[in-house]
Amino acid sequence: MNEDDVDRLDRNRRHFLTVATAVTGLVGVGAVAVPFLSSLKPSARAQALGAPVEVAIGAMQPGEMVRVLWRGRLVFVLRRTEEMLGRLSDNIDNLRDPDSEVVEQQPDYSANEYRSVKPEFLIVEGSCTHLGCAPLEDFEVRPAENWGGGFFCPCHGSKFDLAGRVFKGVPAPTNLRVPPHRFVRDDLILIGQDSGAA
Ligand code: FES
Repeated sequence: MNEDDVDRLDRNRRHFLTVATAVTGLVGVGAVAVPFLSSLKPSARAQALGAPVEVAIGAMQPGEMVRVLWRGRLVFVLRRTEEMLGRLSDNIDNLRDPDSEVVEQQPDYSANEYRSVKPEFLIVEGSCTHLGCAPLEDFEVRPAENWGGGFFCPCHGSKFDLAGRVFKGVPAPTNLRVPPHRFVRDDLILIGQDSGAA
C-alpha cells in the first residue's frame, strides 16, 4: 500500500466516523445496535434478532450515505446524485457481473442497471463478498485511475462501483448483496421486508 492509499484510507475512516455519528438521527428504532438481548422487552428483542428496520430518507442529501444495522448486518443506504448515476455505464467492461446475473445477490426488483428500485437510492449490504469485511465508500472521481467512485475493501483490495458491482481482478467473487426492502413512502424505506415487488 503506498502513501496515497494510506491517505485515502485515513480520509475514509474519518468520514466513516462522521457519518456513523449522524446515523442515529436518520434511522428508525429498529436500526439501533442493541448489545444486550436479554435486557430487552420482547418487541425490541424481536427487532434486534431480525425484524425489519425502518430508515427515514427524506432528509438525505444527494451524495449522502447512511449505515444501518439489520439482523446484525451493516447496510448502506446511498442517495446517488444524477452525476453518480451517469457514471454507472463508464466501467461496464471492467465489471465481473454488470448485469446482476448472479441471482442470489439481489431480489428480482433490483436486478437492473441501477441495482435498485428507485435509481436514486442504492441499498446494499456493507459486507465484502470475499471474506466479509466492511467496504469503505470512496466517492472521489479519479479518471487517471479509471475510478468513478464506489466502495473499496481495505482487507484485500476488492473494489465495487456505485451500484455495488464488483470489479474484475479482485478477490471478491460477486456484487454486494441487495437486502430485501421496500419503499413504505417516498421518505421511508423498510429493510428486511418486501412485498415481492418492492
Ligand atoms: S474481505 Fe474484502 S477483499 Fe477480502
